[in-house]
Amino acid sequence: MSYSVNGNKMISLVFTRFIFYAWHDKAYSRQKGMKKMVQKWYQQAIIYQIYPRSFQDTNGDGIGDLPGIYRRLPYIKQLGANTIWLNPIFVSPQVDHGYDVANYFAIDPVFGTMADFERLVTRCHELKLRLLLDLPLNHTSDQRPWFQDASQNVNSIYRDYYIWAIGTNGRPNNWGSFFGGSVWAASPLQKDAYYFHAFDAHMPDLNWANPEVRKAMADVAKFWLAKGVAGFRLDAFIHIAKADFNQNNLQPSSQQYPLAAAFYENLPAVRPYLADFITQVKQAYPDTFFLGEAASANATQAAAYTQTATDCDVVMTAKNYGEYYPNCDSQIPEFFQPRQLSLRQLKRTFKHWETVLKWPVLSWGTHDVSRVLDRLQLPKDKPAVAKALALLMYLQKGLPVIYYGEELGLHNLQFGQVADFKDQRGQALIRQLRQQQYPEATLLTLLNQYDEMTARGPFPWSTQRYGGFSTQQPWNWGQVPAENLASQWEKSTSVVQFYRQVLALKQQPLFRAGTYQLLATTETIYAYKRRHQGKTALVVVNFSPSPAQFSLLKQHYRTVLATGAQVAAQQVQLSAWGGIVLITE
Ligand code: NOJ
Ligand code: CA
Repeated sequence: MSYSVNGNKMISLVFTRFIFYAWHDKAYSRQKGMKKMVQKWYQQAIIYQIYPRSFQDTNGDGIGDLPGIYRRLPYIKQLGANTIWLNPIFVSPQVDHGYDVANYFAIDPVFGTMADFERLVTRCHELKLRLLLDLPLNHTSDQRPWFQDASQNVNSIYRDYYIWAIGTNGRPNNWGSFFGGSVWAASPLQKDAYYFHAFDAHMPDLNWANPEVRKAMADVAKFWLAKGVAGFRLDAFIHIAKADFNQNNLQPSSQQYPLAAAFYENLPAVRPYLADFITQVKQAYPDTFFLGEAASANATQAAAYTQTATDCDVVMTAKNYGEYYPNCDSQIPEFFQPRQLSLRQLKRTFKHWETVLKWPVLSWGTHDVSRVLDRLQLPKDKPAVAKALALLMYLQKGLPVIYYGEELGLHNLQFGQVADFKDQRGQALIRQLRQQQYPEATLLTLLNQYDEMTARGPFPWSTQRYGGFSTQQPWNWGQVPAENLASQWEKSTSVVQFYRQVLALKQQPLFRAGTYQLLATTETIYAYKRRHQGKTALVVVNFSPSPAQFSLLKQHYRTVLATGAQVAAQQVQLSAWGGIVLITE
C-alpha cells in the first residue's frame, strides 16, 4: 500500500488509514436490520432556484419574465433538477425585488400575466417538474390595500393586521432593522404612533398574533396550490413573533438603532403561529411542501423548526457554508466581512447537521449572498474548484438547492462604482462606512465581493450580446463574468456537464435514500460514505491545490464519477481539487 501524498507522509498516513477503516467498518451490517424508510416526494427533489428578473427576458425590457422561464424549462430538465423555486412574482412595487407584496393574488406585470403563469405550471407538470413559490409572509408592501386602509383609519378592520406602538419622546424603543435605521416608522395618522418593520420601512410587518392574519396567509397559499404549485419557500418566517416592545437593545453599539434581531427572531411563538397556518393549508392540500427560510438558524434551531407535520419540512440557512472570518474588522457588518472556506468548519457543520436534521438542505448560496466562488475567495478561473464544490456538497444526504448559474461556476457580476449598488443592504453599508470615513475604493471592493446584487446578474446563455438574456441592457448590469452555457454545453469536461453527472447520480436510491457518514480525514480532504441496500458509495474530494492519493483495500469497487482522479491497482490519484465517487455492490 502506498501512502505518499504530495511528499507529506504523516498526512497521507492518516488519510489512508481513515479510508481503510471507513471502507471496512461494521456500520453497514449494523444498518442491515433497519426499517425501510418511506420517502416523501421532496426527499427525491433537486431544487433549481430561479431569480426571475435575471433568467430570461422575452419582451426586450431587460427584465426576465415567466415566458422566459417557460422557454428554458427543457434546460432545467436536462440539467437534472426536478423542482423549481421562483423568487417572488406577485404584484409588488419592487422596493425589495418582490419581497414587498402589494397583491398576493396576481402576477406582477413585469413578469407577465396569470395566463403566462398557468401555462408555466402546465408545462412544468408535463415535464414532471414541481414548482415552488416564494411566499413573503412576515410583511407586506405598504402599498397593500390592507396597510393602506390600516394606516389611514384607526378603526380599520385591517388595523390589527399590522403592529403599532406609541412612542414617548420618539420611537417606542431603540431596535434597529435589518436594512438599517429603526424598526419603527411614523404612522401617517396618529401623533407618536409607529408601525413595525423588520426590513424596509415600505415593508410593514404583519401581526401574526392575530388569527385573521394567519388565515389570510393560508388563503394566499391555497389560491396558488389550486393553480398547481407544490409548495412554498416561507420567507423570513422566523421573524413572525416579536418580543415585548417595552425594552431597549442594551448591547453596546455606536449605532443609534443597533440591529436587535434577538427581539424579533426565533421567539417561542413562531412555531405555534406557523403551525396554525400550515394546518389550515394542509387541511386542503396535505402534500404541500414548506421550505422555511431561517437564514440565521443553527442546526438545533433548524431541527426545532422541522419536528412535526405542522412545522416546515426543511429549513434553509446561511450558516452551513463552512465560512470562517480570518480578519474581522469590527466596524463592518458581518455580512460584508472577508471570509474563506474552512473545510474543517464545513465538516464539523455537516457532521452535526446530518445527525440532528431529518433532511438537511444542501446549498452553496442564494440570491441573498454573493456567488460562492467570490464570497469564499476561491481560486479564480478554475473549473475544477466549482466541480469539487458540487461533488462535496450535493451527494450528501439531503435536498440540493442550486442557485441559477452556479452550475456554470458563475462568478459575481462586478460594478464600476459604489453608486451602482441600490439595494437596501448595500445602501446601508455605504451610509455607515462613509460616516466612518472608509475610502471609496475599499467600499467598492467589499460591495463587489459580498453584496447580494453581484449574485443577481443575467443568466449567460450564450456568447451573444447580453449573453442571450435580452436584446436590451439587462436591469442589473456591470462587468459580466466570462462563463456562458452554450460554450460549456458543447464541452464534455465543462462544469455544467459535471453538474449533470452529479445530479444524475443524486437521483439514484443510494444517494437519495442512503445513510450518511462523514469520514475523518486530513484537513484538505472531504470524504463521506452513503449506504443503501447492500451498496456503499465513497465520495472523496481533494479540496486543495496539491495532489493527493489514497489506497483502496476493497476489491469490488467501480468508479462512477471522477474529476481530476485516476485509479490504478487500487491506488487513487487525485489532482488539485480532484474528486471521485466509487461504489461497491
Ligand atoms: C429574505 C429574502 O431572501 C431577502 O431577499 C429579503 O430581502 C428578505 N427576506 C425580506 O423579505
Ligand atoms: Ca421581460
